[in-house]
Amino acid sequence: MAGALAEWAAKAAHHLSPGRGGEERARPRHIAIIMDGNGRWASARGMPRAFGHSAGVQALRNTVEAAGDLGIEVLTVYAFSTENWRRPPDEIEALFGLLRGFIRSDLTRLDRAGVRVRVLGEREGVPEDILALMDQAEKQTETNQVMTLVIAFNYGGQAEIARATQEIARQAAAGLIDPASIGPETITQFLPSRDWPNPDLVIRTSGEQRLSNFLIWQSAYAEFLVFDTLWPDFGRAQLEEALAVFAQRNRRYGGL
Ligand code: IPE
Ligand code: IPE
Ligand code: MG
Repeated sequence: MAGALAEWAAKAAHHLSPGRGGEERARPRHIAIIMDGNGRWASARGMPRAFGHSAGVQALRNTVEAAGDLGIEVLTVYAFSTENWRRPPDEIEALFGLLRGFIRSDLTRLDRAGVRVRVLGEREGVPEDILALMDQAEKQTETNQVMTLVIAFNYGGQAEIARATQEIARQAAAGLIDPASIGPETITQFLPSRDWPNPDLVIRTSGEQRLSNFLIWQSAYAEFLVFDTLWPDFGRAQLEEALAVFAQRNRRYGGL
């Protein structure tokens, strides 16, 4: 038992630590952003909320470009949550339309820039044509290596973990997994994010200090940084500021 526990602890520590030697990285490999504040940005200008969302797409473009230039390996952006279905249908329609438009207008440019696109989230509820565009974006950019852009769309951290748990239970019932062997690493391996490193830095704009169900498993030891900036005003300068703040953080992973 003690042996198994030690083995599990070693695996868990490996899973959370930044590098084999425990060395700290001054630069985050993976930045995850909760793009918040579009509605307030529009309201402040006496405009409808959708105007803020469309300004938010330009901020996304600027941020993707800056992240690539700054050597970020993975950028995850939270574009639509499983809880955002609570919004009025016309706003949901506007958000879906913007994703559709973003993939259509930007895929070629992203591909040429060497960006690999991945999509995280529930497929259920997403219109067929958007699913097809997402699949196309992933397939077309599959072998790109400059940066990975992960779009969290119809994404919820709890739903994602529940889905992974279902699959683990299915395999356990089929005798493929020993329930006693299930540890944090098992869950990690059953999440779609297994292909890239966990976020080192989670940024939220608009001053809100909560995760809103974003990457709750993967962000266990991420640094969290809140900007008062509303998402449409976010860009290269803010990303550079985030990197400077991150470089000053002291990540301890429970150690000393
Ligand atoms: C973030 O902006 C975009 C999405 C949630 C899709 P909001 O729409 O949440 O803007 P605020 O928070 O109402 O200002
Ligand atoms: C989180 O923002 C979701 C996205 C940015 C896509 P929300 O504006 O929906 O979050 P809450 O409701 O303030 O927690
Ligand atoms: Mg919001």
